Amino acid sequence: MNIQQNVSLQAFNTLGVHSYAQFMAQVSSVDEFKEVASFAKEEGLAIKVLGGGSNVVLPEAVSGLVVQFTGCQYHVLEENHDHVALRVEAGFNWHELVMFTLQQGWNGLQNLAYIPGLVGAAPVQNIGAYGVEVKEFIRVVHGVHLGSGQAFELTNDACQFEYRESIFKQALDSQTLITAVDFILSKSPVVNTSYAPLDQMAEDRGVPTPLELADWVIGVRKSKLPQPDELPNAGSFFKNPVINDAEFERLKNKFANMPHYKQTVGVKIPAGWLIDQMGFKGKAFGAVSVHKQQALVLINNGGSGGDVLAAAQAIKEAVFNEYGIALEQEPRLF
Ligand code: EPU
Repeated sequence: MNIQQNVSLQAFNTLGVHSYAQFMAQVSSVDEFKEVASFAKEEGLAIKVLGGGSNVVLPEAVSGLVVQFTGCQYHVLEENHDHVALRVEAGFNWHELVMFTLQQGWNGLQNLAYIPGLVGAAPVQNIGAYGVEVKEFIRVVHGVHLGSGQAFELTNDACQFEYRESIFKQALDSQTLITAVDFILSKSPVVNTSYAPLDQMAEDRGVPTPLELADWVIGVRKSKLPQPDELPNAGSFFKNPVINDAEFERLKNKFANMPHYKQTVGVKIPAGWLIDQMGFKGKAFGAVSVHKQQALVLINNGGSGGDVLAAAQAIKEAVFNEYGIALEQEPRLF
């Protein structure tokens, strides 16, 4: 058991904010976690779980004990001629898993290539990109309740997945350590090119293999989204809001060119477009600025978690005043 005191978390969050944890421990198994949890109990320390740090805003001081699960083994649970089910530990790097599975001929995750973070965080916010969400491939999520130390297994249904949402951000918020995820992947080379730029590429170049599609996705992401090691960021900082039909009609009359996507209930509006229309691309709000190429991404230029939240608040207020739409923040507060 290696528990360290007064640990800088700057390298553990992709926004690169300065933050210190009172205590921190990396654990690679449930048994190791149990040891750390009993230390926390003896010392009266609250446990806080950090994943890859790519979707979180950290305060300057984190009291209690920060735990990161680093176990990154995988094993095949079952395999037949058209499917494979595998269990992957939460510390496995997400993009490496995507590329590894595709190289094995295990398909499905290709549209989710190049998303920063670890496997354990994927179900928390139901990561999604280019017409695909990870919930389509998750069978079971394994973890431990922080309070009781009890292990749990949640089936896909029980995870209550929705757009950028799950039970881990709702009823179980901050109450669990996810230790492993079971995925079901296909051996058929089925690809989803429903996202317009990928569809256009498929028109021009022919239907891609899943591995080729992952390469296209990597190319699109690299062209649109900044790399955290160059420009510290947490990906999309806001969710794309879903507004009701009456509200949509009102806005459409005023902003005829507003992009929109009909949902089963309501209409989804790209938050990036709303922010872009305000003329905010590249604009600095103190030490934090809106990315020049993608208005949905905030870049931290040496600011604190508080600076990031203040910039987000200024953007939310401006968008609300102009459109009457309340943007919701995507990264979690720690
Ligand atoms: N748009 C603008 N200006 C901008 C950004 C977007 O006008 O600065 C417009 C685009 O022209 C387009 C629409 O908004 O009409 C949608 O843009 P895009 O396809 O780039 O997607 P997004 O809505 O900005 C979402 C996800 C991304 C994901 C992409 C592709 C959310 C919050 N974000 O972005 O996810 O990669 O779709 O599927 O749903 C992330 O969560 O960190 C993330 C990057």
